[in-house]
Amino acid sequence: MFQQSKEPELMQKIVSLCKRRGFVFQSSEIYGGLRSAYDYGPMGVELKRNLMNEWWTAMVHSREDMVGIESSIIMHSDVWKASGHLANFKDPLVDCLVCQERFRADKAPKVTVGSECVIELGDKGRAKLALAKLVDAGESGLERTGKTLRGAVAADRGYVCPNCGSPYLSPERDFSGMFRTSLGPVDPIQGVIEAVQRGVQEGLDEKALRELAEEALSGSAVYLRPETAQGMFVQFLNVQQSQSIKVPFGIAQMGKSFRNEITVEHFIFRSCEFEQMEMEYFCPPGEGPKYLEYWKEQRLAWWQSIGLSPERLRFRPHGEEELAHYSDGCFDVEYEFPWGWDELEGIASRTDYDLNAHMRGSGKKLHYFDPEATDPDTGKPGWRYVPHVVEPAAGATRGVLAVLCNAYSEELDSDGNVSRTVLQLHPRLAPYKAGVLPLVKKDERLVRRGRDIAERFLAEGIAAKYDEQHTIGKRYARHDEIGTPYCLTVDSDTLEDDTVTIRYRDDKRQERIKIDEVADVVREALRTGKI
Ligand code: GAP
Repeated sequence: MFQQSKEPELMQKIVSLCKRRGFVFQSSEIYGGLRSAYDYGPMGVELKRNLMNEWWTAMVHSREDMVGIESSIIMHSDVWKASGHLANFKDPLVDCLVCQERFRADKAPKVTVGSECVIELGDKGRAKLALAKLVDAGESGLERTGKTLRGAVAADRGYVCPNCGSPYLSPERDFSGMFRTSLGPVDPIQGVIEAVQRGVQEGLDEKALRELAEEALSGSAVYLRPETAQGMFVQFLNVQQSQSIKVPFGIAQMGKSFRNEITVEHFIFRSCEFEQMEMEYFCPPGEGPKYLEYWKEQRLAWWQSIGLSPERLRFRPHGEEELAHYSDGCFDVEYEFPWGWDELEGIASRTDYDLNAHMRGSGKKLHYFDPEATDPDTGKPGWRYVPHVVEPAAGATRGVLAVLCNAYSEELDSDGNVSRTVLQLHPRLAPYKAGVLPLVKKDERLVRRGRDIAERFLAEGIAAKYDEQHTIGKRYARHDEIGTPYCLTVDSDTLEDDTVTIRYRDDKRQERIKIDEVADVVREALRTGKI
């Protein structure tokens, strides 16, 4: 019997398995680790690439109306001005004056203005210190019981600290989600120093000095892309004309994006450096709603096809107030993570916002001419228009986490204790498709036969692992934990009759099978997803 533990226990177990088995490591771990950045180990990189290759196969290789690109991570800054990111890609940042938590105001727990707030500190000592600080700052009417402070009143802004519940908060300030750097051999800091010195001599205030500093930086400032999407918009015409492709068609791209997130959370779910799988589908004006529906269904079916349980997937429509500045309709594909339902992919109708914005920003025309269509305004043959866009934008690294959460299972023995941990990955996602295990590594003949079987897989491009370390039981356990669908044991009978014992990952079933049939079994599992 398999079971799944509940968050946070389940997340801790997944994080621990990821480290133990080489899926995901904390970035720069030996230097104390970098918050919000992760390295993919030998198993993780296989899993992530398998997932992304599945996406590419489904989105690009299996369709005639799709092409791919790979655009640069650093683009001209005017791209981000035109797209609206420089003006809008900001979050309201707030510090809690009690526990020092830094958080996004728009994501904080809402409270009724004037209601009583209960502040929960980690322990009695912290609560005492916090109370003393608040009293020093002139707050009255507060009382402490153990680690709890009572008597605080929710202020006008109507939210409290998500960590301790305090309404004592710093003013909100804009925090840009984009990573800025500078391009070229010029040292931008020197320009900033000179500009600020000039401003100080002129007696400018802090706001004006900040503007001077920003201006001094702006000459060489460039940004790491916060989404891959803009690469597809700015290359729309080059792609369309070089490929002579007709609308409707899509441009797909996978790759890294960067966001200076205020809150990083749930392991690789939200990090500052992550990977996306995005596609911009260009269609005639008026057809956005039709393709929004179409891509919703396609994308949900794809997540199911790589093994995510249908009952853990759902759509969540965005309300009017939640829609991004470019969108007139959006649905999230949500997955039920151990902490609850959360976004895996956004599928948005972006209208003609982006192409229009880049036409205005660059002064270049980004129209499409359809000689076979009738212009709806003139009634004449031939229609020139700015295409509308539907965008399915998925997280690749977030997808890896969903796959790990979905696949992680524990088998219980008759006493209810965990007897084995298994990653029930779809065979196409599994880092290795088969483990080849000689029963005894000291027997040279078994070793040679085992290596020979593994090499046959590798020659076919099927990832297999020849594995002779530790007892057979430990080897099975290792392959269960990395999701290898089949283990093939080579023993003395193999030398006699060219058979191996095949062990099926999910039900531990074992049977004897001819070596010549093994590759067919694996190929069938890769095709059907069934082990
Ligand atoms: N081009 C549209 C766009 O980027 P988004 O909803 O901001 O839309 C798309 O991002 C997907 O990228 C999300 O659904 C999520 O899976 C992933 N994503 C966004 N921010 C992320 C982060 N900080 N860490 C990991 N994945 C992230």
